[in-house]
Amino acid sequence: MESKVKELVEEVGGVSISNPDQAEQFRLKYLSKKGVLADLFEEFKTLAPEQRKVVGKQLNELKQMAEKKFAEAKETTSAQNGSSADKNIDLSLPSEPIELGSRHPISLVRASITDIFTKIGFTISEGPEIEDDWHNFGALNFPEDHPARDMQDTFFVESDSADKWLLRTHTSSVQVRVMKNQKPPIRTISPGRVYRNETISARAHCQFHQVEGLYVDEGVSFADLKQTLYYFVQEMFGEKINIRFRPSFFPFTEPSAEMDISCIICGGIGCPVCKQSGWVEILGCGMVHPNVLENCGIDSKKYTGYAFGMGIERIAMLRFQIKDLRLFFENDMRFLSQFKSVL
Ligand code: PHE
Repeated sequence: MESKVKELVEEVGGVSISNPDQAEQFRLKYLSKKGVLADLFEEFKTLAPEQRKVVGKQLNELKQMAEKKFAEAKETTSAQNGSSADKNIDLSLPSEPIELGSRHPISLVRASITDIFTKIGFTISEGPEIEDDWHNFGALNFPEDHPARDMQDTFFVESDSADKWLLRTHTSSVQVRVMKNQKPPIRTISPGRVYRNETISARAHCQFHQVEGLYVDEGVSFADLKQTLYYFVQEMFGEKINIRFRPSFFPFTEPSAEMDISCIICGGIGCPVCKQSGWVEILGCGMVHPNVLENCGIDSKKYTGYAFGMGIERIAMLRFQIKDLRLFFENDMRFLSQFKSVL
């Protein structure tokens, strides 16, 4: 019997228990009333007194060992059922913080620009980023030899077809599509990404975003344009903002102008942001050239229109006082996470 007990010590020591079912099987096999140990204790009673001394001690040790093993196994495996582990959970503790994402500053500013214009009746129109020469240039009254068409400014897309394909250099191309497909009155803004072959620096990038606006109807005047843009900057930058127009040139507008706003940093006194001038340029605009209306099938004798176009990056840089345009494209979390609570 001595050797039987020794064998069992080894056997019990070697059993591995990894779930509650195995723990119960262990109990049934060794510790229950009909288990191995109970049988041994029965057998023990039949031993001669001198043998009982030695075997009794071993048997008790075996019993303690099996009981201890079972108790420990029960403790560790019951956590899997969630029963005893649940008791250790403090449900009143705050949960692990989940880091919320945030919208990109360009998306934020785009949304506030489109909100401002949709409030006064502008629709939103979008179009393809890969365009043909006619929608990007031809329809917009760019002469064949205009420098903006050449490789310096425009990314051309290689193609086997006779048509020239390019990455749009402005979203005016979308307005051409709208004028071709709709009848006046047309009042729409076209937000979107545009591309120009520029050297990347703190102030320029080969891709950026624009919102261009177009209003075509009978009797639309430059005064309407000024009033709309004045409303826009007041909504965007606050009521204290002043505007001024400077004559400019675009092939698709006549007359053309660039619009400045009084510097939002210094209020017009002069600072590094406005280069001491008190003014910062924010957009180009003008009255739609009659040739553009005719190219798109709109009677230029009956209808007039105004158009304007601005860079979203520029507005965002002024609004958030960002000095380097490249930050918008680098996806640096340290930069992006600063816009969590904005707008
Ligand atoms: N399309 C011009 C640009 O990309 C902006 C503009 C739009 C100017 C409409 C005048 C009128 O620079």
